[in-house]
Amino acid sequence: MDLAQIKAGYPDIDLEELFPLFPQISMSEYPNLSGYTREQIYDGALAPGGLFLASDMAAKMELSEGMRVLDLGPGKGASSRFLAREYRVSVVAGELWNGPTENWSRIQEDGLEDLVMPVKLDARQLPFAEGYFDAVFSMDAFAYFMTDDLYPQYLAKFLAPGGIVCIGGHCFASELTPETPKEFLWNIAHAYHSPDWWSQHFQKRGHFEILHCQQHRLGRELWLDEVRRLVEKCHPRDMDEGRREDVLHSIVMLLTDKQRFVSQFILVARKT
Ligand SMILES: C[S@@+](CC[C@H](N)C(=O)[O-])C[C@H]1O[C@@H](n2cnc3c(N)ncnc32)[C@H](O)[C@@H]1O
Repeated sequence: MDLAQIKAGYPDIDLEELFPLFPQISMSEYPNLSGYTREQIYDGALAPGGLFLASDMAAKMELSEGMRVLDLGPGKGASSRFLAREYRVSVVAGELWNGPTENWSRIQEDGLEDLVMPVKLDARQLPFAEGYFDAVFSMDAFAYFMTDDLYPQYLAKFLAPGGIVCIGGHCFASELTPETPKEFLWNIAHAYHSPDWWSQHFQKRGHFEILHCQQHRLGRELWLDEVRRLVEKCHPRDMDEGRREDVLHSIVMLLTDKQRFVSQFILVARKT
């Protein structure tokens, strides 16, 4: 099956023919997640990565028990609960679109009431004391609010001296140009940037030093697995129209991309 055949038949496609183009991430890549099933790794995920990406990000953050962590835009809170469960850190799950009451139920189900506090907030108007957090974590959400030139210096205010910020998720290998194929662009993709761009963004005003900023070793593979998990969960025929269009966009984007332009990355920076 090739892209032309998929487009011609969509949404009536044979998933068995699609699957070889969109392989699953092998669990052997993640021995640290051996206690989790694939369903648990993607439970509540609203973007590529799930706990695969969250665990890679967390491993780079020098977390230790009792630290105060702000998770910005955790959606259904899976990353916040993961950080609390695995590292025993105290997490504020600061989320805009998903209600804190729904997330509180999940926190209670996981027995993490003492470690995770769900809060409705806008990342541009943080209601916290300056210097309060030891770390800020944001996965697949930062493109919505962090690209503002002045955001890194704003965020730095809420970190203790030496505090860590870690962001991870969507990126392009290099910046968009007028020649970038239109297949790569839709909705939030206009706010994707390259790892180099993010590195400069965080260093620009001297509030952070970069400890790590690179494409993820499985950047494309995480994207491919995202399409795989979505169509495994629900055949495109049965998706609502918006989701069906999003999935088609991802399929077209990934099968057009012969140069690993579409990727994922992780940045870790320390407040100076
Ligand atoms: C694509 S979802 C990713 C959710 C989650 N991190 C995940 O990986 O499943 C983007 C998230 O960003 C959050 N978000 C967008 N703008 C925000 C803002 N200004 N303040 C806080 N959260 C925001 C949304 O509420 C949404 O949950």
